[in-house]
Amino acid sequence: MTELLMPDADGVARAALLLGAGGLVGMPTETVYGLAGDAADDRAVAAIYAAKGRPSFNPLIVHVPDLAAAEQLVVMSGAARALATAFWPGPLTMVLPLKAGSPVSPLVTAGLTTLAVRVPAHPVARALLAAFGGGLAAPSANPSGRVSPTAAAHVMAGLSGRIGAVLDGGDCTVGVESTIVGFREERAVILRDGGVTAEALAGVLGAVPERRGENDQIDAPGQLVSHYAPKGRVRLEATAPEPGEVMVGFGAVGGDLTLSASGDLAEAAANLFRHFHALDAMGADRIAVAPVPEEGLGVAINDRLRRAAAPR
Ligand code: TXA
Ligand code: MG
Repeated sequence: MTELLMPDADGVARAALLLGAGGLVGMPTETVYGLAGDAADDRAVAAIYAAKGRPSFNPLIVHVPDLAAAEQLVVMSGAARALATAFWPGPLTMVLPLKAGSPVSPLVTAGLTTLAVRVPAHPVARALLAAFGGGLAAPSANPSGRVSPTAAAHVMAGLSGRIGAVLDGGDCTVGVESTIVGFREERAVILRDGGVTAEALAGVLGAVPERRGENDQIDAPGQLVSHYAPKGRVRLEATAPEPGEVMVGFGAVGGDLTLSASGDLAEAAANLFRHFHALDAMGADRIAVAPVPEEGLGVAINDRLRRAAAPR
């Protein structure tokens, strides 16, 4: 049975105990819920892949409490350290060379020589990392190919019975996954748009980083096209629903649901996956979504929407 734990001292201690014994815990972060296991424990990491039904060639992000802990796992360049200082704790993941002797299971990197690391900002994630005292490997806590969870109930709906516990930290405030940045020589490359905007990265790096090209050497192997889809068929750039469609509005374009009536992109990001889950729950089989501007957090939102609308 999967325990639902409250985010108080007892709940956090119980979650840390389960993790220490090689168990898996649904962990709240500010982006989406993660499915956490001890990053140093081969069996725990293997259990993460099994619980998600994830192809084992798709590597995991390791969550650590701070920059010093990250530096024990990866080699950080000046640019990486500048981004860490600006955006950690927060929704930024960096892919960096794995340090020799790093105490991370080889299953985490799925054979790559790089490791994805992130310092989450959610207070309950931080409390759990402090109580556990090591790195936590955590992909998003959804069955592979399904929508990422932004509430404890979403984790329960997808993984109940397959994991030890879910630590309930409330609704995720960012609502889309972290921005993933890799490096080509010293230059930052965006591998996945997410909670930190390209404009914010540019503010630290001095220029807008390039994005990974389709056939790029730097891989983000998890970027499967249908990754973010609700069950229903999705039509984008809709200004009104067609008969039989459930309409998701944005700004002046209204709907049965709205990402943000005031056109606020942060609110829209926080609502995006919650609405996908709600659409699944109401059995929506045709979904129309209003246009979202391709700027700031809108870039990450449109990336998820395009994947949701892609043929499957
Ligand atoms: O916001 C987030 O990033 C959430 C929370 C839980 O932290 N996590 C998350 O993990 O979205 P996941 O596993 O769903 O997505 C991680 C992505 C995958 O596309 C994976 O392929 C990529 O990161 N990745 C991990 N390690 C990598 C590496 N060494 N090189 C390139 N891509 C990597
Ligand atoms: Mg995911």
